[in-house]
Amino acid sequence: MAALARRDLLARLGMWLAAVPTAGVAAWIGVRFLAAGRGQRVVTVVGAGVADLPPRAALTVENIAGHRLILRRDRDGVAAFSTVCPHMGCAVAWEEAAREFVCPCHAARFAADGAPLAGPVDRPLRRLPAVIRGELVYVELPVGETP
Ligand code: FES
Repeated sequence: MAALARRDLLARLGMWLAAVPTAGVAAWIGVRFLAAGRGQRVVTVVGAGVADLPPRAALTVENIAGHRLILRRDRDGVAAFSTVCPHMGCAVAWEEAAREFVCPCHAARFAADGAPLAGPVDRPLRRLPAVIRGELVYVELPVGETP
């Protein structure tokens, strides 16, 4: 019963935070705790409303812990990527003209699916599970992990 009440409270907190626009876009963040398989707890980051993320667009959002993520819509739905470059940890950004992720530190480039294309990297960007449910985008991040 207490777990249910906490879940409900956190879901309501997420909905309240959804109404707060940030950085000029209607991106918003909330946090909700879900029970995952084998008893592991997973924090689900509510990244954005679907209306903020038109098809083929990318949107950088920040979760309540200050971690930045890039959400990108494609034919398959929505994808969420860490902004942490797997080379040395600089912040990557989405470059719309090239439709690639770029890292400003050592010129790494990543394809739209996060695969490394150029630069001193041999690993893809971290991709996090993301789904659209109703009008909302959910990104799952295990508790204690950073994107
Ligand atoms: Fe991104 Fe080096 S930190 S290319």
